[in-house]
Formats: sequence, C-alpha cells, structure tokens
Amino acid sequence: MTGGVKWSRSHRLYQWNESVKKVHIKSYGCQMNIYDSQRMGDLLGPLGYEVASGPEDADLIILNTCHIREKAAEKVYSELGKLRHLKERHARAGGTPVIAVAGCVAQAEGEEIVRREKSVDLVFGPQAYHRLPALLKAHAASGRPVVETEFPPEDKFEHLTKTVPKRGVTAFLTVQEGCDKFCTFCVVPYTRGSEFSRPAVQIETEARALVAAGVREITLLGQNVNAYHGMGTDGAVWSLARLITHLSRIDGIERLRFTTSHPRDMSDDLIAAHAELPKLMPYLHLPIQAGSDRILKEMNRGHRSEDYLKLIARIRQARPDIALSGDFIVGFPGETEADFEATLAVTREVHYASAFSFKYSPRPGTPAAEMAGQVPDEVKSERLARLQELLGTQQKAFNRFCVGSDMAILLEKPGRHQGQLIGRSPYLQSVYIDAGGHAIGDMVNVTIDAVGSNSLSAHIHP
Ligand code: SAH
Ligand code: SF4
Ligand code: F3S
Repeated sequence: MTGGVKWSRSHRLYQWNESVKKVHIKSYGCQMNIYDSQRMGDLLGPLGYEVASGPEDADLIILNTCHIREKAAEKVYSELGKLRHLKERHARAGGTPVIAVAGCVAQAEGEEIVRREKSVDLVFGPQAYHRLPALLKAHAASGRPVVETEFPPEDKFEHLTKTVPKRGVTAFLTVQEGCDKFCTFCVVPYTRGSEFSRPAVQIETEARALVAAGVREITLLGQNVNAYHGMGTDGAVWSLARLITHLSRIDGIERLRFTTSHPRDMSDDLIAAHAELPKLMPYLHLPIQAGSDRILKEMNRGHRSEDYLKLIARIRQARPDIALSGDFIVGFPGETEADFEATLAVTREVHYASAFSFKYSPRPGTPAAEMAGQVPDEVKSERLARLQELLGTQQKAFNRFCVGSDMAILLEKPGRHQGQLIGRSPYLQSVYIDAGGHAIGDMVNVTIDAVGSNSLSAHIHP
C-alpha cells in the first residue's frame, strides 16, 4: 500500500500528489470488458496510477464483471468475499484499498451490491467508466459508497484518453455497443443499453493510435458488431463492411477481425468484404444458439435454422476457406430431445472450427426466465456433453485439415521454450514456431507440421 488520497483541484483531471498509486483490474466476461478494462487503465494512468502486481498490492481494485450467466455473476460475489478480508487486513495496517465493481453485474444489480457486500466503495455500469475519476473523487470526499448506474447522455468514448500506451501486437477496438434484439434469454440489452455505433472518425483515430503503439491486428468489437451503422467520414451512414474497408487502408494494420455477429445482420457487403479484402481474416463468429425453429422463435432470434444454413453457404461461396465459430445454448425452456437433436443436426451440417456452448441459465428480468418448461440441470448437462463432444471432434478435424498447409502467422508472444514464439493463424489458431531470427510483431510464412491438444506447430519457410 502507498500514500493517501489528495486531489489537486487546479487540474481538470484530478491528480494524486503524494505518491504513485496502484490499480488492479480484473476482467470477467466478453472481449468488450477486456477492452473497457484497458480503457479504464488508460484513464487512470494520467492520474498517477500504475498497474499493481495483484490485489494485495493495490490501492484501487476494480472488478469488471459479467452478468451473462448465473455462474459469471456469482464469481463476483465470491471474489468480493475474499476482497473483504483483504480490506480488513489492510485497514488494520493503516491503508484501505478502494473496491470498485464495474461492468454488467454493476449495471444489473446497482445498489444491491453495496447492500450485499459492505466492502464495496464504488459501483458503476459499462456506460459510466469514463466517469471513474469523478466517482473516485466523490467517494474520497464523502467516504460513502457511490453507485452510478444511469446511462449518462455524453458519449463515453469521447472522454477516453487520446494516446494509447504500448500494447501487444493485437488489440480490441469497440466500434458498437449495446443491443436492441432482446433475445429472450439475454441480459445484454439491459446491461449495455440500446445499440450505439461510434462515428468512423473516432474509430479511425483510435486505430491509428493503436498502430503507432505497435498493434498490427485489430479486432473490432460489438455485442452486435455487424449491426454497425455509424457516421462515416463522408457524413453518410456506414455499414461495418464500409468501416472495415476504410480501416484496411491504414498502413501498419496487417489484419482485421470483428466479433460478435448476428445472423440477421450478415449483409451482402460484409460477405463480399470477406472475398475482397485481404486484410480481413477468414474467421467468422456467427452464433446460432439452437437448431430447432420452434426454440429459435421462443428465443426471439428472428431467423430459422434454414436461413442460417443458407447464409453459411453464401459466406462459404464468397470465402471457401472461412473458419466458422458459434455459440450454443442447450436446455432453453421447453427444449425437447428432438429440439436438441436439431441443434446437433445443424452443427453437423455447418462443421465449426471452434465454438462456445453453454447450459441455459435463467437470468432475472429476462422473459425466458419466466417461461414454462424449464429443463432440469441433469438434462442440460447431458445435452451439453453431447454437443461439446461433437464440437470438439469438429475442431480437431479442422486443425488436422490444416496440417501440411502454408499460412501467414503473426507472431504475438513468447512460447514455452527458448527461441519459441506463439503466433495466430488467419483462422485464429495458436501456432507454436521456432522463431529463428524473427521477433514478436513479425508476419512469417509457415507450413503447419502438427496438431497439439489446442494448438498447431509449424516451421518457417526458409
Ligand atoms: N450478441 C451475441 C451474443 C452475446 S452473449 C449473439 O447474439 O450471438 C454471448 C453468448 O452467451 C451468447 O451467444 C449465448 O450463447 C450465451 N448466453 C447469453 N445468455 C445466456 C443465458 N441466459 N444462458 C446461457 N448462455 C447464455
Ligand atoms: Fe443478447 Fe441476443 Fe443481443 Fe446477442 S443479439 S447480445 S444474444 S440480446
Ligand atoms: Fe458479460 Fe456484459 Fe459481456 S454480461 S458477456 S460482460 S456484455
């Protein structure tokens, strides 16, 4: 623990005067939370905060939380229990860390969090993280918990720091937030609010800053990223495809990806972009959730499984080597064995390169939580195991299919052994390589030699 709080009122951004402070941010949930956590870190840097080595060492601890499934939300409370003990220990030693709960649990539960867990000082939702300096100040002044779960009218992205500290070679960039689709199982429309697309000029500025900080691959993020409809640099409304085309012209960006897409928003120009833009990687995360049309309707997904399969066929026609990924929910209320088998049937037809699958988790306030026919946990577990076995087989088959092929790998981080680096294939696989004279950030041409449990190994072309 380091010195106490002292704000300098002469600065627009409040600064710590006494000594360096340390912050520990722990992220749960989706990539958008990882992005938000980085931006909170960037925001705290100018206030004199450095990254702590862990919670023990921190003056400010932020849990950036996820509410998507019950387990995700409960993890937060078990972590807060541990932090309560840490806070008590540190209070006895004369320095009390500030404990903040950010993200989707904060948005969904608000005041309830401070009622349930007395050690929490700050609670703020995903639309308020740019207000963190002001919230810290309000807490320091009052000594009481501060809860901020309004959707402030100002654009939080406008308030981000303009420079980007050094990053790795890959980075996330949020281009779209929120969701208006209201799938009946999902909390996102409630926790992240309605759909919002950032203007292209803001995104371009941030992309250029990322490139200047050493980034070579950018993944554009949004809960519904392909519903992007932001203002273009020419004043017209741009689709995601136009945005990607624009960003692909930036020198220094080698690769672009985007996630997560909704089947309903997979427009022709985005499919065409996969055929036309060499920098757009041949990987698409396109969740279907379930294969039964009756269940898809109950989920309010707005498409049938046949529409999804036709879409996949068009995407594959445009980009035959595309690696497909998806999300699945098993045990949605009313799901029969026949409905579940329809999920297996779609999966067999698509052949996924990777996928995420979950047991349905009733979320408070969502329509599906109130539906009749809730499926017993044992049935959900049994179906999940069957689906995961099939998906695992498909992933292994896709990886094996890559053996012997040539591809470009972006080297990202050190491997386990001396001289080994780990990179990503165009299809988002981790690839282990004996790097020779190459360094992190280099793009190398390799031949894939073998498949490991979750990765590939390759040698660089001479
Ligand atoms: N916008 C994306 C999904 C975002 S949430 C889409 O429309 O596909 C990420 C994933 O969590 C979802 O795709 C879904 O598979 C899963 N999920 C969401 N709510 C859930 C719930 N109540 N129970 C189980 N899984 C859920
Ligand atoms: Fe949730 Fe559906 Fe929106 Fe995806 S599209 S974030 S699953 S409501
Ligand atoms: Fe979780 Fe919120 Fe992301 S609920 S999945 S952190 S949008």
